[in-house]
Amino acid sequence: MTEILLALVIVAGLISSTQPLGLNNTPDSLIQSEKFELFHVSQIEHTYNKSLHARLVRDKRRVDSLTQILTNGQNMTSLNINVELDLMLNTLEYAVRLGVGSPPIDQYMLIDTGSNVPWIQCQPCAKCYHQVSPIYDPKYSNTYREVPCESTKCLLLDDHTCIEHQCRYTLSYGDKSLVKGVFALETFTLGNTKIPNIVFGCGHENRGTFINFTGILGLGRGDMSFIGQLVEKTTGIFSFCLADPGAATRGWLQIGGEAILSGAAWAPMIHNPEANPSVFYYIGFSGISVGHNKVPIPEQVFQLNRKGEGGVIVDTGTVVTTFPRVAYNAFRDAFLAQMEHFPRTHGVAQLDTCFKLTSIEGLSLPNVSFHFTGGVTLALTIRNILVQLDRSTVFCLAFAPAPGDLSIIGNIALQRIQVTIDSRSGRIGFGPKTCASPQPSWNRIRNESGRSKNNINVSLLGAVLISLYYLLFV
Ligand SMILES: *[C@@H]1O[C@H](CO)[C@@H](O)[C@H](O)[C@H]1NC(C)=O
Ligand SMILES: *[C@@H]1O[C@H](CO)[C@@H](O)[C@H](O)[C@H]1NC(C)=O
Ligand SMILES: *[C@@H]1O[C@H](CO)[C@@H](O)[C@H](O)[C@H]1NC(C)=O
Ligand SMILES: *[C@@H]1O[C@H](CO)[C@@H](O)[C@H](O)[C@H]1NC(C)=O
Ligand SMILES: *[C@@H]1O[C@H](CO)[C@@H](O)[C@H](O)[C@H]1NC(C)=O
Ligand SMILES: *[C@@H]1O[C@H](CO)[C@@H](O)[C@H](O)[C@H]1NC(C)=O
Repeated sequence: MTEILLALVIVAGLISSTQPLGLNNTPDSLIQSEKFELFHVSQIEHTYNKSLHARLVRDKRRVDSLTQILTNGQNMTSLNINVELDLMLNTLEYAVRLGVGSPPIDQYMLIDTGSNVPWIQCQPCAKCYHQVSPIYDPKYSNTYREVPCESTKCLLLDDHTCIEHQCRYTLSYGDKSLVKGVFALETFTLGNTKIPNIVFGCGHENRGTFINFTGILGLGRGDMSFIGQLVEKTTGIFSFCLADPGAATRGWLQIGGEAILSGAAWAPMIHNPEANPSVFYYIGFSGISVGHNKVPIPEQVFQLNRKGEGGVIVDTGTVVTTFPRVAYNAFRDAFLAQMEHFPRTHGVAQLDTCFKLTSIEGLSLPNVSFHFTGGVTLALTIRNILVQLDRSTVFCLAFAPAPGDLSIIGNIALQRIQVTIDSRSGRIGFGPKTCASPQPSWNRIRNESGRSKNNINVSLLGAVLISLYYLLFV
């Protein structure tokens, strides 16, 4: 009898420490790779102002600050853990749901190909902004550990300072605001996959609003980004499909997996030796065509110079694609030349080329393609080219002149096509798939109500058995 109960207690203890039930515990299953839903922020945060004008205003700020950072001295330390960049980051438009801690608490995190170390808001909060999900509290997680100051992991984090043996980050800004947190390790649960020991910034003082999301899942190129930390398990490959903001369907994010490599058209990823730490995904870009003709733009316009300036980055956090003024003007003029039959109307924010159209379906509009070095061509769909102004009859060319020499391929141009980032082989792939929602198979397990039910019940069972054991035998 004693043995049976003891065994039960042990079993119950084991179950309650590996919840929620049925989760696959081997990180290697990332190789088989699930697809996780990738939301547009407006699909989760209903107070998000999705008017095109508001998005464009935010977007311009991001483009300006990226240009400044990537042009002036490449000082990207603050980008590593960019909690402060309210300016830049309230433009992020895509988010994933993942579980943080053990037991996992669901959190919505903004994804950003322009950030490295992931961070979230953490209790106790000296200052936290309002977020959709409950703020993560390390006290209730049995897998939370601080990154020791002496560890190599702490040393890899550019912004760290060692205070009382904690590997901390403290950022102060021009306006005297401060952002504080500690670097820690935690288990993140994506879909059915538990990923232990992810280094993240546990932020106890966070300024900004971040559209009421928990934090940022940095998918940048650096070693300490969420992707970089998984290199050994996933070879650093990930793939995503961005949905339309207005659409009911969602996009997806897939991390790891050889399967996603087949069938894509590959363009070279360019390394910017001046960017340290490297965050952004530069791509070899050679030009644009409109209709059957390549727009006459010298290729150097798109190249990185020796100082690491210029070049073309792929950035999910930027909305509108920007090219240096000379390239933009040539492209716009070529496009306009083929749009003579359509009525023009005045521009909106940085979009200067707009038309009055009842719909864009079925119209014979000029085809636009991007050309990448190495010969690959990406044909854009009309929805990658023209953006509708808030259900009106105004459609604008979703491109704008850049404030400098840096070009950015933004998320309108990337929507509805699979994009694969393969840092290992230094290439970025397009296609073969267009977006289709993944099977949200894990909602069953990780539904808000369902999740807590499982946890509480299993924990309760354990507690009851343990008490019983003590009552009877101790
Ligand atoms: C959204 O932004 C637009 C443009 O900036 C503004 O006119 C509108 O009032 C905003 N809507 C809300 C609900 O804040
Ligand atoms: C980069 O930032 C660091 C830390 O803030 C600073 O010490 C350094 O002078 C900066 N370098 C440049 C080129 O601005
Ligand atoms: C976030 O939450 C606050 C409430 O604290 C709300 O006023 C705001 O509109 C929300 N939405 C966004 C997009 O920030
Ligand atoms: C655009 O490309 C498609 C497919 O290649 C073709 O069917 C269509 O005629 C092209 N449109 C124009 C205006 O050239
Ligand atoms: C979560 O569960 C509730 C009730 O069981 C259900 O109504 C809801 O649709 C579920 N949500 C998701 C995202 O599956
Ligand atoms: C435990 O699970 C049962 C059925 O599975 C459910 O009715 C009950 O509400 C759960 N208890 C708690 C505390 O969630």
